Amino acid sequence: MRRPLIAGNWKMNGDPELAGSLINACKQAVRDHESVDLAVFPPYTLLPLVATEAGGGRVRVGAQDLSPHQKGAYTGEVSASMIKATGATMVLIGHSERRQWHQEGPKLLSAKLKRALDEGLTPIYCVGESLQQREENRTEAVVGQQLALLKSAEFKPHLSEILIAYEPVWAIGTGKTASPEQAQAVHAYIRGILHKVDARISGLVRILYGGSVTPESASGLLACADIDGALVGGASLKGDAFAAIAAAAS
Ligand code: 13P
Repeated sequence: MRRPLIAGNWKMNGDPELAGSLINACKQAVRDHESVDLAVFPPYTLLPLVATEAGGGRVRVGAQDLSPHQKGAYTGEVSASMIKATGATMVLIGHSERRQWHQEGPKLLSAKLKRALDEGLTPIYCVGESLQQREENRTEAVVGQQLALLKSAEFKPHLSEILIAYEPVWAIGTGKTASPEQAQAVHAYIRGILHKVDARISGLVRILYGGSVTPESASGLLACADIDGALVGGASLKGDAFAAIAAAAS
C-alpha cells in the first residue's frame, strides 16, 4: 500500500565527483529493487548536476531547505521555483539541524511548507524529540506539537502530498539508532495524529525513520508496520551502504 522510500540527506557534504558516483549507485539500486523508491538531498550547488544525472526516473532529487519567500531581496536564500528549475522535485522542511542552528519554529516552517506545496515540490516534514525531552517522557507532546500545523485548514487538503520523517535528535549522527520498538511506537502515534487530520488519507502517508540508519539496523526498522522508509545521513554518502539499505526495504 505504501511504497518504501529510502532518502539520503547529504547535509553539507559532497562534490561533483562523489555526487556522480552516488547517483550511479542509486540508479543501479532502483534497477535491482523494483519495489523501492529512492531520493537524494544534496547541497544546493550540486542540485542541477544531480537532478540531470538522475534524469527524472525513480531516483528523486530534493533540496535540504527552501526560502519561505517567493523572490526578492533575501540575500543567501534559495526559492522553491529556483529549486524546481534545477529539476529537483522534493524538499526537506524542519530538519532538526535547521530547528536547532537556525531557530526554525512553527510559523516559519508553516510558511516554508506552504511555499513548497504551492510550487509543487513534495515536502518531507521532519519531527523529533531531543534526549532530554525523551528522558522527561515528553516525546509524544513534542512530536504532537511539531505536527500541529498539519491540522490547519491550509494543510489539511494537502495531506496526501506530504511525507513525514521522524528523526529523534539523540539518534542523529550519534550511532545510537532508536530500537524498532521505540521508532514504531512514535510512528504509530504520528499515524494516529494524521488519522485525526484525515482518516481517509492517513494510511497512505509515508512516514520515514531517520537517525543513524545503517545497513545493519535498516531491516529491523523497516519491518515495522508504520515505518515506510528511511531518511539516511552518514550512510547515504557511501553508495554501497545506501544500496544495502535500499535492499533491506525491498
Ligand atoms: P545520520 O543517519 O547521519 O544519523 O543522519 C540522519 C539525518 O539527520 C538524516 O536527515
